[in-house]
Parts: sequence; C-alpha cells; structure tokens
Amino acid sequence: MRILAIETSCDETAAAVIIDGRQIASNVVATQIELHRRFGGVFPEVASRQHVLSIQPVIEEALQAAGVDHINAVDAIAVTHGPGLAGSLLVGVNTAKGLAFASGRPLLPVNHLEGHIYSNWLVAPGRPNPVPDDAFPAVILIVSGGHTELILMQDHGQYRLLGSTLDDAAGEAYDKVARLLDLGFPGGPAIQRVAQQGNAERFALPRPLLHHDEHRFNFSFSGLKTAVLNLVRQLQTDGVDVTDATMVADIAASFQRAVSEVLVHKTLAAARQHRARQVCICGGVSANAHLRALAEVECRRAGVAFYIPPLFLCTDNAAMIGAAAYYRWQHRPLTGDLAIDVFANLPLPETAV
Ligand code: KG4
Ligand code: ZN
Repeated sequence: MRILAIETSCDETAAAVIIDGRQIASNVVATQIELHRRFGGVFPEVASRQHVLSIQPVIEEALQAAGVDHINAVDAIAVTHGPGLAGSLLVGVNTAKGLAFASGRPLLPVNHLEGHIYSNWLVAPGRPNPVPDDAFPAVILIVSGGHTELILMQDHGQYRLLGSTLDDAAGEAYDKVARLLDLGFPGGPAIQRVAQQGNAERFALPRPLLHHDEHRFNFSFSGLKTAVLNLVRQLQTDGVDVTDATMVADIAASFQRAVSEVLVHKTLAAARQHRARQVCICGGVSANAHLRALAEVECRRAGVAFYIPPLFLCTDNAAMIGAAAYYRWQHRPLTGDLAIDVFANLPLPETAV
C-alpha cells in the first residue's frame, strides 16, 4: 500500500510517500525556522501563509522523488488533522481533500501524536530494524514542543495515557530557557549545542515531581524554567556576568540534565510497572543527544528494548504520518469520507484497557 502523507500542523510543510507503513519512498520537509526566528517562536498567521506557498511544490517533490508520476498511482492520501495550529492544519487538510477528490483515493485523517509514535516503525538509514510489530505492551514517551505524554500502548492503535505534563511541555521549556539565555529559536538544538561545553554538575536545579506518588507519571517543567530564571537573577545580583560563555554553557547543561533525568526516570518506572517489552521515545525533544544517551543506558540496565527515531524523524515530518495512517487503516475499512475537519486540541484516541 502506497500512501501519500501530508503534515502541516506547525511550522514544517511536509509530504512523504510511504510503502506498507515502514518504507520511506520519499520524505520532503520545508522548514520555516528562518521565517519565525525573528519572532522568537512560531507566529501562527505567518506559518499558515507560508504553508499555502510551500504545500504544492513540497507534494510534487515528494511524489517525484518516490517515482510516482500521477496522484492516481497512490492508494490513499493521509493528512494530519490535529492537534496543532488550526490555520496551519487547514492548509494540509484542504489540500489533501482536493487531491482525494480529484483522484478518488481515500482520505485518511491522522492524529499528529500517533504520527510521532509511528516514527519508530519506519525503516531508515542507520536503523534497518525498527520496532517489531508484536512487541507489546510498549511504553511510549512523546516529548515535543507542545506535548509531554507517557503512554501505554497495548497493540496497534490501543493507547492508555499514563501521564502528561501539568504545565509546560518539555520542548516548550527548552524554548523558554533558550530565550532566557539569549540563545535564539528553536531552543532545543541551541541549548544542546552550548551544553556540550558545559558542566552539568555546576548548578543544582530541581527535578520536578521526580518522586511524587500522586503524580508518578506526570511531569511539570514550568517550575524548572522558573528555577533557571531565579538562578540567572541571583547570579546577576551577585555581580556575575551571566552572558559569559562558560556560565551559559553550565546553566544550559544543568538544565538539560534535569529535563533528561526526569523524562528517563519516569519512562522507566512506567516500563517496570507495566512490564513493557519495549520503550519508545519520540517527538522533537527526542533529537536531544543527552536524552538519547541517558535513555539508552538506562533501558539497557533495565533489560528493556529501546527505540528512538533517527534525528530526521524526531522533529515534524510527513513520513511518520504515512506510517501511522497505514497501521490505523490496516484494521479498518477505508471509507474515503472527505468530510474531515481540523481539531487544534485533538487528543490521542484512548482505548479502555
Ligand atoms: O515535534 P516537534 O518538531 O514539533 C511539535 O510537534 O511540537 O518538536 C519541536 C520541539 C521544540 O520545542 C524544539 O526546541 C525541540 O523540539 N527540540 C529539541 C531538540 N531539537 C528539537 N529539544 C532538545 N534538544 C534538541 N536537540
Ligand atoms: Zn510534532
């Protein structure tokens, strides 16, 4: 089954052709990072307008790179319909509707979070063996700019939310702390870059909700961000130059370590409690080298299989949307219904397990 997938939920215009849910025939991402940099974050109206300009050439490039010479040669068209920025989602959904109508191919609405989950199912260079199809239950950590969610996945499409952030998402905390340290947008890669030279032991930052019975699988990153703000203010009061490169690197490294430790600790606690056969981490923050290394070590120590996407599949892309669409519609009839809508706050569909 050959699926054309489209993703425009935030600031990346993306299209991909995916074969049988796992093989990437093409994967095109037009990023808007440069456009939003001067605003210090994603400017929704600017994002929608840029999607309108980019979507057609991005889809054409994806079809061409996959050797698809006509839209009728794909079996279905998948598109992210939420969660995300409503105006951005609309561009992808309306384009997909037009293509589905013109080609008579079924239209498959995909949840963006389910897309991130299935990024671990894709075969990619450097990862010839992605997640096996039968290794359930799995514990999934989604960490992105908008989400921090710990999920128990019992089978394909069977999810139970174990916990989530009570305030800021992990990526949001990265972006806010980066702004505080004047490191620019997007914050995650900037913090990682300077943290490489930093001493993560230098500042003792809090590990929010680390050992909290009531919030065992929930997260909170707003307090950690405030702790960094207070640290910077205290240092300034003490007459320390907080723009000094070593100082910035040490603060960034200490922050990065606090975030990774909380994420990994809770993910492994969930894996133990639910006897998971595998742990999967996904979403933009899963590109973080410190998190990747720590999770790898801790999963090995716990004896649980660990999967994390290659870097190009961590941040938003359409390949993951094609993978999720394939697995979702494996067990369902393709209705071809064109009456789909966008949902800015669409939750992951939970099943009673
Ligand atoms: O999944 P994604 O591309 O978009 C959303 O669905 O939100 O995630 C973007 C987030 C941003 O907050 C960005 O700062 C963060 O992922 N991110 C990182 C890294 N690369 C991207 N955070 C930490 N370390 C990174 N290397
Ligand atoms: Zn995302």
